[in-house]
Amino acid sequence: MKEREIQIRFNELKHEELNADDKHLMELAINAAKNAYAPYSNFRVGAAVLLDDGTIVSGNNQENAAYPSGLCAERVALFYANSNYPDNSVECITIVVIDSDDKIIPHLVSPCGSCRQVISETEMRYEKRIRILLVSEDIIMEFNSIQDLLPLSFNQKDLLAR
Ligand code: THU
Repeated sequence: MKEREIQIRFNELKHEELNADDKHLMELAINAAKNAYAPYSNFRVGAAVLLDDGTIVSGNNQENAAYPSGLCAERVALFYANSNYPDNSVECITIVVIDSDDKIIPHLVSPCGSCRQVISETEMRYEKRIRILLVSEDIIMEFNSIQDLLPLSFNQKDLLAR
């Protein structure tokens, strides 16, 4: 047996270290979170997606009384972007969760497995790394690729490798 290790990389930033474009994207994610439809969890998530031509698309979580029929903010935003701007690659996705006072929560929230898989598919589709910013009240985690959040992912190359 050989023990192997996988390293992931990310940067930890303070809010004052964000540049103006990143701050703008974060504000749009916060605004999106305010419109979340989350009557069951009261967990309001917003995602803002920056495309390669500067277009920004945002989304929020949409819940349903039939729980599995809901969808996370990240996938709402990415599916909207990919369906309406199929020729534009995704450069960055910023994700925030807000509390009942519309403030960013102190805890860092990381995307669920299904959202990671969709971000991974989008990276593969456009052959371009996606920056991922996870925003909490005090710090921001910056990943330069979904590979750092979803190592050893299943992707189209696995289907072709049969
Ligand atoms: N949720 C998101 O929108 N994004 C995440 O990254 C984690 C979870 C939503 C799904 C559900 O509406 C609520 O948060 C609680 O899980």
